[in-house]
Amino acid sequence: MIIAVDGPAASGKGTLAAGLARHYGLPHLDTGLLYRAVGLAVAAYENAPEFEAKAIAAARAVDTAHLDPAVLSSAEAGALASKVAVIAEVRAALFDFQRQFATRPGGAVLDGRDIGTKIAPDADVKLFIQADSKARMERRARQFEARGQVVDRYALYHQIEQRDARDMANPNGGFYPAADAHLLDTTLLDIEAALRAAVAIVDGVMARKAKL
Ligand code: C5P
Repeated sequence: MIIAVDGPAASGKGTLAAGLARHYGLPHLDTGLLYRAVGLAVAAYENAPEFEAKAIAAARAVDTAHLDPAVLSSAEAGALASKVAVIAEVRAALFDFQRQFATRPGGAVLDGRDIGTKIAPDADVKLFIQADSKARMERRARQFEARGQVVDRYALYHQIEQRDARDMANPNGGFYPAADAHLLDTTLLDIEAALRAAVAIVDGVMARKAKL
C-alpha cells in the first residue's frame, strides 16, 4: 500500500505520515528533508548568480542515506528548501529516489507537497492535510521551544506565509490536492485525533477497494 500525504508547511503532515507508517508497519520518507538538504548545502550562495547551478549540482549529489531531521528542521532550512524547490532540474534530480521509495515492494508512506500529484499519482490513498496559518505557526513554535529555542511568533508566522506563497507560486510544483485526495483539516485536532481521522480515511479507502 502506498500512502501519499501532502500539505503546506507545518500542517502536521510529517507527524501524521510517521504515525501512519507506524500504524501500518510501512517505511516512511519525509521528502521535505531532500529539499532542505539541498537548500542548506547551497546556503552560502543564496544571493549569488551561481545559486541555481550550485543547487542543481547539490541535488544530484544529495546523500539520501544521511538526512538528519535534527540538522534540517530549522526555519532557515525550510526557507532555503522552498527556494531550491522552484528549480525544475532540482526536482528532476530528486525524482528517482522518491519514486523508487514509493514503489518499493510492500509499500511506503511519503509526505511532501507533490506526492499525490507527481511522485506517486498511483498511490492507494492520498491525504491532503490542511490547518490554518495561525495553528500551523503555533505548532511549529512549540516544536522549536521544545528544543530550547526562543521563538519570535510574529517572524515565524511571516516566514510560514512567505513559504506558502513561494510554494503556491512554484511553476514546477504540483502543490495542490490531487483530484482523488482526501482533505483532512487538523486545525482543531490534536495529533492523536488527527491520526485517528487519517487511519479512518485509509481504512475506509482500502475497504472500498477490497470490495471492487
Ligand atoms: O515539508 P517541508 O516543510 O520540510 O518542506 C520544505 C520545502 O521543500 C517546502 O516548502 C517546499 O518548497 C519543498 N518541498 C517540495 N516538494 C516536496 C517536499 C518539499 O518542493 N515533495
